[in-house]
Amino acid sequence: MSILRSQVVGCGSYLPARIVTNAELAARVDTSDEWIVQRTGIRQRHVAADDEPTSVVGLKAAQAAIADAGIDPSEIDLIIVATATPDHTFPATATQIQAALGITGGAAFDLQAVCSGFVFALATADKFLTTGGARAALVIGAETFSRILDWEDRATCVLFGDGAGAVVLKAAPGEGTLADRGILTTHIRSDGRHKDKLYVDGGAGSTKTVGFLRMEGKEVFRHAVTNLAETVRHTFEQTGLSGADIDWFVPHQANRRIIDATADKLGISHDHVVVTVDRHGNTSAASIPLALAEAHADGRIKRGQLVLIEAMGGGFTWGSALIRW
Ligand code: ACO
Repeated sequence: MSILRSQVVGCGSYLPARIVTNAELAARVDTSDEWIVQRTGIRQRHVAADDEPTSVVGLKAAQAAIADAGIDPSEIDLIIVATATPDHTFPATATQIQAALGITGGAAFDLQAVCSGFVFALATADKFLTTGGARAALVIGAETFSRILDWEDRATCVLFGDGAGAVVLKAAPGEGTLADRGILTTHIRSDGRHKDKLYVDGGAGSTKTVGFLRMEGKEVFRHAVTNLAETVRHTFEQTGLSGADIDWFVPHQANRRIIDATADKLGISHDHVVVTVDRHGNTSAASIPLALAEAHADGRIKRGQLVLIEAMGGGFTWGSALIRW
């Protein structure tokens, strides 16, 4: 049966130049490199300059992805930016990036699912592309979490970083089998009962302020491993695949211990896991496309391979996608 698939045709990323090491943080708050590395695996993170709002960070990743795809930006008729740190309350950061790319057709909008944003945005773009609603989509995860951190709260400020990653997807015919290139499955979930475990204590519609990130780390950790394993199990049940079939597991990069525990639960060997959390920290919606771009650029992820992505974030939200690259 001939169907439409959303194929990844380009991938790129951008990291701000400034690197903040654990030692630099230890000079500001009561923490240590040893504590941060042991609990999270994070050694450093990038922080955006004052003149680098999320739209600029996202634009640079988008330009890299478009160059990798070798297409003209005018071919893109859908732009989705997954972000929890938009430049403004409105308009959408996606429309700023659309204008900067010189694109005047199609639609551009932001999507808010915090750390799961890239998975949710990819699932949304896939629905447009496979139903004929768009022909080429740019999906960007872009964040400047440094701007919503309480730099005096050692329990949160050591965990996050800034950056962006992007993919270009094109609708292309497939046979409807797992051998097709493109997005093969997506699963997304939310459960709003857990708002207080991970949230920002401000907003345009409530406090009229931006607010700071607040988190119950232990609770988030506990839910993360359970929810992430659940969403991937749905993928395995739907496809008949197992952890051994996955060429590359590219999880959301929040914490090395969450990544290792999830891979172990799913039977995925650690040699098949792409890890960037040590150098990027948790970049929320940007973490998966940043990791994809790194492994695509250095030749680990090859055309035709099976790539599994998953994420969990505030809300709670969580989800996964299986892609034949
Ligand atoms: N440096 C030194 N000590 C610290 C720091 C720090 N940066 N942060 C907290 N501590 C202290 C605490 O105050 C506490 O001290 P106490 O025992 O005297 O009260 C002690 O360390 C233990 O704190 P816990 O919060 O219990 O430490 P835990 O082992 O749970 O590790 C961590 C904390 C790393 C945040 C962990 O819970 C975690 O990774 N949770 C997941 C959070 C996450 O990844 N969130 C990202 C968003 S959601 C997502 O992306 C999946």
